[in-house]
Amino acid sequence: MVQAPDGFRPVARRWLVTGASRGIGHAVAALAASRGDKVCIVGRDPGIAGIAASIGPDVFGVSADVTKADDVVRIAAEVEARWGGLDVLVNNAGLHRGGGLDRISDEDWEATIATNLSGPMRMVRALVGLMPEGGSVVNVGAVVGFRGFPGDSCYGASKAGLTGLTNVLAVELARRQIRVNMVVPGFVQTEMTATISDRARDAIIGRIPLRRMGTVEEMAEVCWWVAGSPYMTGSVVFTDGGLMCNL
Ligand SMILES: NC(=O)c1ccc[n+]([C@@H]2O[C@H](COP(=O)([O-])OP(=O)(O)OC[C@H]3O[C@@H](n4cnc5c(N)ncnc54)[C@H](OP(=O)(O)O)[C@@H]3O)[C@@H](O)[C@H]2O)c1
Repeated sequence: MVQAPDGFRPVARRWLVTGASRGIGHAVAALAASRGDKVCIVGRDPGIAGIAASIGPDVFGVSADVTKADDVVRIAAEVEARWGGLDVLVNNAGLHRGGGLDRISDEDWEATIATNLSGPMRMVRALVGLMPEGGSVVNVGAVVGFRGFPGDSCYGASKAGLTGLTNVLAVELARRQIRVNMVVPGFVQTEMTATISDRARDAIIGRIPLRRMGTVEEMAEVCWWVAGSPYMTGSVVFTDGGLMCNL
């Protein structure tokens, strides 16, 4: 039997990537678009349409906040109107608020949980009805959701919750042949990590066996193959230069 060459896909997939106005999400969107897929990017940035246009012709942007129920409904309506369905949902939008228990406010806690945990749950709930068999959800986790980093209670709890949500949804949605996995970046050069002091940065890099930060392109490549791996669901894929092995 003649087989299509590796990577050949006759039909472009339809991706939705949250938090794609910059950073890892932007790189995921750019990679998918560069490989011929259609992409919807979501972020609160009012200039999201311009960012989408700069990625490629088959990319459109929705300026929306994943913590707002009405915005999530609007995102789903826009995707349905444009495409009538969705193949890949990447829950990447994320917020980091640090500080020990004595310093964090209730607002820090609630904003972090709302963005990193409730947002993905609402996105899946709103969009799963548009996904056919073979659909794929990729949640973006964090090493902090698996290990205790002092000063990261908001962020660590939100990402640990997202791991639990990934497990449950992998089982629930398997009945419909929709896969749900988690990609876990280690320490990646983005706006989220830009304000970390040199001392703290060096300390983290000192724990990474590969002795460097990751790039957004390296994270995007892993999200790409996790999204398309037909027998993978409920998996957690660390992409961290070995950090988890060394903690
Ligand atoms: N960088 C790292 O070392 C690292 C490590 C582990 C995990 N991660 C995870 O990777 C993901 C991406 O992080 P990043 O490093 O690329 O961060 P980033 O550069 O700060 O980007 C975060 C993205 O999320 C969007 N966003 C934040 N809150 C949102 C909301 N309420 N609604 C919609 N969009 C929202 C932002 O866009 P707007 O401001 O336009 O809304 C932006 O596009 C996050 O989930 C983060 O937790 C990052």
